Amino acid sequence: MAKIKTIGVLTSGGDAPGMNAAIRAVTRAAISHEFNVKGIYRGYRGLVENEIVDFHAEDVSNIIHRGGTILRTARCKEFMTPEGRQKAYDNMRKHDIDALVVIGGDGTLTGAKQFASEFDIPIVGIPGTIDNDLYGTDHCPGFGSAAKYIATSTKEIIRDAMGFSYKKKNVNIIEVMGRNAGWLTGAAGLSRSEDCEGPDLIYLPEVAFDIAGFVQTIKELLEKKDVIVAVVSEGIKTPEGKYVCEYTAGSSTTDAFGHIQMTGTASYLAQLVQSELGCKTRAIELSTLQRAAAHMASRVDVDEAFSVGGATIKAADEGSSGVMVVIDRVSDDPYQSTTHVFDVHRIANDEKVVPRKWINKAGNYVTEEFLDYVRPLIQGHYTPMMVEGLPRHLNVNMKDYDWVTDTKKKK
Ligand code: F6P
Repeated sequence: MAKIKTIGVLTSGGDAPGMNAAIRAVTRAAISHEFNVKGIYRGYRGLVENEIVDFHAEDVSNIIHRGGTILRTARCKEFMTPEGRQKAYDNMRKHDIDALVVIGGDGTLTGAKQFASEFDIPIVGIPGTIDNDLYGTDHCPGFGSAAKYIATSTKEIIRDAMGFSYKKKNVNIIEVMGRNAGWLTGAAGLSRSEDCEGPDLIYLPEVAFDIAGFVQTIKELLEKKDVIVAVVSEGIKTPEGKYVCEYTAGSSTTDAFGHIQMTGTASYLAQLVQSELGCKTRAIELSTLQRAAAHMASRVDVDEAFSVGGATIKAADEGSSGVMVVIDRVSDDPYQSTTHVFDVHRIANDEKVVPRKWINKAGNYVTEEFLDYVRPLIQGHYTPMMVEGLPRHLNVNMKDYDWVTDTKKKK
């Protein structure tokens, strides 16, 4: 394999906290290896549409506190075609890119596997997804920060619900992302602590969801309590295999990777409970807040994203291709982790879900073992840079990019 001179880096699929830390680490490590760096905008779409710019050390300063990804992201259908990948490869050649670092979830790494098998270029992946549903890694960068935000928000919603007494009994249903894996939803259980009773119910997609049974459970709980807080995953399915969100109009669209848009599960259930039980209900869909909340980033998560980013350059320099850098948990107390490279061919298209033994018998809560797995990943905090009372996001260094018009500056 030819000696590397220039590395390309991109983020693809749903964005996740920690992506910027990984971009910063990849860029800094590449420069310390005397490689040139090219930033590729909007994931594989930027490769196909030639949205590629020179990247310098100053372009990645002050970006750890920012939400989202400074390289933008997208899901690119065209890249899933041989013609699209040929275009991408030709553009890489135009920019003399000798190796590629891709940051994203299972759709992104599937694309990397395909690309690596068709073209002789080192491709190294970073499992950057809040869904935490990738095999081969103990957990994914981005998950810890999203889990921290979900547990904190659940705590605050419980405080609000418990503090507000209505004439009617009050049921709050929180909807959490995560597609077909319940890692994010289960993290809401961390809100149960000496200063908070935690949610009453937590439903993960790993267990078939009985809609009538759910209403009955709420009915029984309301006989004992005036306020209920339940947390449901956006991906819960009935025993017949139908997503609950499919009962609402919102889920009729699919994304470039063919995933249905999951939304509306909580509001469907809230309306049902209200009409069947006559109580007050509120649906709270955390939506993109849980992946964008850089103000609630976990230090463990961001630091790990940084170390994984650095390890990709070492792997690429050693000529590894079709691999991803994964996180191994060394110990929990104290929490320690390390990284190694994992063959990307062994992970693609197979979601890692929450083991059944980490969900209670009734299928409506998570076990202590599950919480012990997540707890170390939310530790520590990154205080955002506050300007005039708000987190400052702008990165003034990106010479080639107009942040306000969100376009590449015309030469
Ligand atoms: O994969 C990350 C994720 O946030 C999922 O949890 C969620 O289902 C999906 O992406 C939402 O994607 P979009 O914002 O494109 O609808």
